[in-house]
Amino acid sequence: AFRALAAAELTLAIVKPDGISGNHTSSIRNIILQSGFTIHTQATLHLHQHTVTAFYAEHSTKTFFPSLVKYMTSGPVLIMVLEKVNAIADWRTLIGPTDARKAKITHPDSIRAMCGEDLERNCVHGSDSHESAAREISFFFPDSLSGEISLPES
Ligand code: TYD
Ligand code: MG
Repeated sequence: AFRALAAAELTLAIVKPDGISGNHTSSIRNIILQSGFTIHTQATLHLHQHTVTAFYAEHSTKTFFPSLVKYMTSGPVLIMVLEKVNAIADWRTLIGPTDARKAKITHPDSIRAMCGEDLERNCVHGSDSHESAAREISFFFPDSLSGEISLPES
C-alpha cells in the first residue's frame, strides 16, 4: 500500500525588537529546533517604517498601528523562514495568543508567555495562514520560494 508523504511547509517567524533586546533569541532558536523545525533562511534587519507599514498593511487603519510601527522599528529583528510538516499551524501554536499578558495565564508554555509583555510587545511573529506565509516569505525573501538561496547568518 502507498502512504502519501506529507510535504514540508514554510512559514515566516520574526523575533521582534523586545525579543532581541531581552536576549531571548537563543532560547527561541532552541525551541524552534527542538520542535522539529529547520531554519531555512534567516536575516537580522533593522526595519524601516515603510517596510513595517507594507508588511502589516492589513492593520494600517487600526488605532494601534502608529504604535506598532514605532515598536517594530525600535531595534533589530530576526526574520526566519521555518520549514517543517505543518509549519504554519504548529508555529502559531508554539508562539501562543497575540496578547502576551493573557498568554501568561492561558498558555504559560508558549513563546509569547515566555518573552512577551502585552498585546503590542509580544516578542514574536508567525504567519497566520498559507496565504499569509507565502506573501510574507516572498516579502522578505523574494527568491526563496523558487529555489535555493543563502544569506549570511546573523
Ligand atoms: P494580529 O495580526 O492581530 O496578531 P498576530 O501577531 O497574533 O497575528 O496583529 C498584528 C500585531 O499587531 C500583533 O502581533 C501586535 C499588534 N497589535 C497591537 O499592538 N494591538 C492590538 O490590539 C492588536 C490586535 C495587535
Ligand atoms: Mg496576524
